[in-house]
Amino acid sequence: MKFHLQTWGCQMNDHDGERLSGLLIKEGFTPADSAEEADLVLLNTCSIREKAVHKVYSELGRLRQEKNRRDLIIGVTGCLAQQEQAALFKRAPQIDFVLGTMAIKQLPRLVEEARAGKKRVIDTGEYPDNHLFPPEVARRRSTAKALVTIIEGCNHACTYCIVPTTRGVERNRPWQDILAEVRGLVDQGYHEVELLGQNVNSFHGGCSFAELLERVSEVEGLEWLRFTTSHPMNFTRELAEVLVSNPKIAPFLHLPVQSGSNQVLRRMLREYTVEDYLERLGYLGDGRARIALSTDFIVGFPGETDADFDATLALLETVRYDSSFSFIYSPRPGTAALRLKDDIPSSVKTERLQRLQKRQSELAKASNLRALGTTVKARVESPGPTEAGYWMARTGDWKVVHLHVGLGRSLPFGELVDVTITEAGPHFLGAEIA
Ligand code: SAH
Ligand code: SF4
Ligand code: F3S
Repeated sequence: MKFHLQTWGCQMNDHDGERLSGLLIKEGFTPADSAEEADLVLLNTCSIREKAVHKVYSELGRLRQEKNRRDLIIGVTGCLAQQEQAALFKRAPQIDFVLGTMAIKQLPRLVEEARAGKKRVIDTGEYPDNHLFPPEVARRRSTAKALVTIIEGCNHACTYCIVPTTRGVERNRPWQDILAEVRGLVDQGYHEVELLGQNVNSFHGGCSFAELLERVSEVEGLEWLRFTTSHPMNFTRELAEVLVSNPKIAPFLHLPVQSGSNQVLRRMLREYTVEDYLERLGYLGDGRARIALSTDFIVGFPGETDADFDATLALLETVRYDSSFSFIYSPRPGTAALRLKDDIPSSVKTERLQRLQKRQSELAKASNLRALGTTVKARVESPGPTEAGYWMARTGDWKVVHLHVGLGRSLPFGELVDVTITEAGPHFLGAEIA
């Protein structure tokens, strides 16, 4: 039996996919590169915005035709599964089973029942030990960086966000388990680890998040430690100090701000003002110059005025982020923001998004230009992506490097190499081996 897994969404969902693959392999399944070659297709879905949901339904449409031609088991898991539960069967009757985000260890049982011919198999229960997943089972995809979930769920209640619904309340892994998993990964040859949580810095599994970073950074053989995603209100002085002073922690901070307007932040229930946010960035002190900063913005939140949007642009200038992700607000089922009047024309939303992204591109390019001529360490990820003779790598501050190595030369996956930056675009750095 062959399975094909397709994952959308954030790194945590990616890592859930690695866990799900591991469970299937343990049951004797072998991975297939495409749905066409598979007996079982598992869609590990995201529902953060409407667009992510569309992608799932369009893939389900394609799979229905495949299933009309031959035997095929279709399973849906991830955030859309948790959100829609049994309603998914009505919308897409070709689905054989639905597995929630807090029940992933139940996968083998669900597959078994579906294979035995049972229809509409479902488990979207909240298993209290879901986050205590045996680390040896996961089949990691990336050779460069290993993903390690440390806290699942979210206790915030941002009015636009589906995540508290799809991932439940916070559940922490004990720090000892995390440390043991990282030691095991380094033994397997990984030199870089990324700690994951919907709110990674609210971790409290027996120690503070800053203490956890210190402990994990001491694992011998580990070169870079990363973490995502941090909530500004859980960003402490202690965490900032560890980030700027510990050389094992990669010099990169993703701290989503969402908006530069206090009125909008209040309606989003982000729990901070722009001033609070800037105060927290100030915790980085002089070390800030060394740390690349990244953020998320939502544009066109209900009631966002021109003045609110200008405040977001002003914040962009104040912070000068090295990179940012920005999205047009997407109404999500069951969220509190649905009750707010959303009367901004979509053309205005699109225009605002384009202005924000254009300015961010310029800032990103300026940040990249500062790296020109320097020699830095970068981790080798893969050949390409488009041209022969080039390889992809990533710097400690998470910049994409297109590394010119020449035809026929190959680089060691997952290893650090010294590179000299020769070119700076808005989205990547060009480099040569130093
Ligand atoms: N826990 C993180 C965010 C996780 S979701 C935090 O609190 O910052 C990742 C990003 O998706 C968010 O930062 C936000 O910018 C965006 N997002 C979430 N819900 C959205 C929605 N309904 N519409 C548009 N963007 C959304
Ligand atoms: Fe969503 Fe807010 Fe929780 Fe982030 S902090 S996952 S945006 S509810
Ligand atoms: Fe998407 Fe769920 Fe992650 S909604 S972003 S897969 S937590």
